[in-house]
Amino acid sequence: MRRKIVAGNWKMHGTLAENEARLSQLVLELKSRDACDVAVFPSAPYLFQCQNLLANSIVMWGAQNVSQHPSGAYTGEISTAMLADFGCQYALIGHSERRELFHETDQDTAQKFAVVLEAGLKPMLCVGETLDQRESGDTMVVINRQIDAVLASVGIAGFTNAVIAYEPVWAIGTGKTATPEQAQEVHGAIRQQLAQHDAVIAESLQILYGGSVKPDNAEAIFAQPDVDGALVGGASLNPTDFIKICNAAG
Ligand code: PGA
Repeated sequence: MRRKIVAGNWKMHGTLAENEARLSQLVLELKSRDACDVAVFPSAPYLFQCQNLLANSIVMWGAQNVSQHPSGAYTGEISTAMLADFGCQYALIGHSERRELFHETDQDTAQKFAVVLEAGLKPMLCVGETLDQRESGDTMVVINRQIDAVLASVGIAGFTNAVIAYEPVWAIGTGKTATPEQAQEVHGAIRQQLAQHDAVIAESLQILYGGSVKPDNAEAIFAQPDVDGALVGGASLNPTDFIKICNAAG
C-alpha cells in the first residue's frame, strides 16, 4: 500500500512573517495526523526558517531547485550539500517552470536527479505535457522521454527513493485540472513504463498529480488507484486550503 504525500510548492512567494504564520498553522493543525506525508517547498532563503519551525513536526521540507554541480564557481546556484545542511528531505527536479522559463533540458534534469540521490535526498521529478502536445496526441511520448532521460542516468534503481509528480503544463496555475480519469490514465502509463524495468519498484513508487489541485477537487483525484497524492501550487499558500487537501488524502 503506497502512502500518499501532499506537497506544497510555494514558488517565489512568501516573507518571513507570512511563512511563520503559514507554517505554525500547519504544525498545529497537522500535529496529531499521520495519515499522509506532508512537505513544503519554500524559496531557498527560507529553508533555515523551515528547519527551525518544522524540525519536530510531521511536516517535511525541500527545495524547488538545485544545482547539478557539487561546488565551485557557479554564481547564484545552490548545491545538494547546502540543501542537506538545512535538513531538506526533498528537492523538486524539472518543474515545468524550470524547463520552460529557465531552459532546463531533460539532460539537466537527469543530472540533478542523480546528484540529489547521491546526497541522500529524495528527488521529486516533475513531468508533463503542454496543451499542444496533448492535443497532438503526444502526451506519453513527452513523458516517456522525460522519464527515459532519468532512467539513462540513474537506472530504475534510482526510482527506489524518488517521487514523480505528473503536472500537465496546461493545468498549472490555470484553474483547469485534469479530470480524475485523465490523471489516472497518465499515472497508470507512467507506472507501466517503469514496470518494464522493475515491477516492484514501479509498484511502490509514489506518483503525485499537480495542476490546480484545490480542496474541492482533491478527493476525486486522490480516489484514482495510481494517484498517490498531490503537488499543490497556488492552494498551498493558503494553509486552511492546504490542510483540507491533506485531509482529503486520508
Ligand atoms: P498550481 O501549481 O497548483 O498553482 O496549479 C502546481 C505546481 O506548479 O506545482
